[in-house]
Amino acid sequence: MKRIATLIDNIGLLWTMSTGSEQQDAAAFAGREAMRQVGALENAAIAVDGDGYIAAIGKTREIRAMADADTHTVDVQGAFVCPGFVDPHTHLVHGGSREKELPLRLAGAGYLDILRAGGGIMKTVHDTRASDHATLLAKASASLRRMQSFGVTAVEAKTGYGLELEAERKQLAVANSLARTLPFTFVQTALPAHAIPSARLADRDQFIEEIVHMLPVLHSEGAEFADVFVEEGVFTTAEGRYILQAAKRTGMKLKLHADEMASCGGAELAAELGAVSADHLLTASDEGLWKMAQAGVVAVCLPGTSFYLQKRPARARFMMDEAGLAVAVASDYNPGSSPSENFGLTMTLALLTLGMSPEEVFVAATRNAAAAIDRAGELGVLRAGRRADLVIFDAPSPAYVLTHYGVSHVRSVYVKGQRVYG
Ligand code: NIG
Ligand code: FE
Repeated sequence: MKRIATLIDNIGLLWTMSTGSEQQDAAAFAGREAMRQVGALENAAIAVDGDGYIAAIGKTREIRAMADADTHTVDVQGAFVCPGFVDPHTHLVHGGSREKELPLRLAGAGYLDILRAGGGIMKTVHDTRASDHATLLAKASASLRRMQSFGVTAVEAKTGYGLELEAERKQLAVANSLARTLPFTFVQTALPAHAIPSARLADRDQFIEEIVHMLPVLHSEGAEFADVFVEEGVFTTAEGRYILQAAKRTGMKLKLHADEMASCGGAELAAELGAVSADHLLTASDEGLWKMAQAGVVAVCLPGTSFYLQKRPARARFMMDEAGLAVAVASDYNPGSSPSENFGLTMTLALLTLGMSPEEVFVAATRNAAAAIDRAGELGVLRAGRRADLVIFDAPSPAYVLTHYGVSHVRSVYVKGQRVYG
């Protein structure tokens, strides 16, 4: 037994998200019954070893007995504690901002109309190409500090504002710098198939070939996943299949921006290709959602995006209750459709607009979010042997954290047993 370096003591309520079985804890919770399990423990403590891993979790009295004279004790005074949140879908690294689009949208222009007119994603492509590494790094670091203040300890970050090799590589390089210096777990996704510049519409097949050639380079520079914006007026389902099949041959895992505005068969494609996750899914068909569940694809709901774009939210209840899917939530943080790093608000919107219970929301933001980035074996669950990434709240209950909304109730955040916030 390793020495106990830190004791997180006197936890009033601990949601571990664990079933107790190591094998089960390495997978998402799928369906309504499973997604209600939070592995609750009252009057608990967590013993952390010198490497930042959990040595033991249990009742305060038993765990305290493991400490020695040199153990650093953190008395959380009856607080609520849960695993660090995992944000499995962000467009973290980008230049500029897009507040000028809101009046256009309020006057009736659609998100895709603005993109077709050269704004939207293309405006951010322009701003990202024009920003140097240091500028992008400073902006993304500030965003991460905000995310951390809401309890996020792991993030997925996509490219997709370069749309040409050098600018896509620049986005990856910024995320790689952040991963080296900041206390977050990073997972990177290559999204060069995020939009087609209008100048390339005439030779779109050639543009798609260029994307296919970018993927191995982006993979070798840190992109573990590939993603495509499959959408009416952006990439067709056939183009998405072609690009993602190439990504798979390269050894990349797959994600999709699927069935956001129009139902394009994105959910079906995610199931067919064995994607790790399909995200958005506002207009996904019943059939597509059933197929995703059969194929073990995690459904990532982005309630901040449907809220900000004023769209009918994803059918999370159908996903959990009927299709038996594993549902995760993510911020989709980006300048156009979800300009907020407030992960607490994302979780509140999951409660209010997706109709999820507090238990389901916390599962969706921890262990299921970890599964959406293929980290179910490492993140999102507090159990012996896992990293001590956890959040300590100032709140009388988990439901209070979600319902007293728009502000952070996070007292402190620990990553690998070290306090990184609060
Ligand atoms: O997930 N839908 C496509 N991509 C992003 C938005 C990107 C942007 O508007 O800059 C999304 O919502
Ligand atoms: Fe997105």
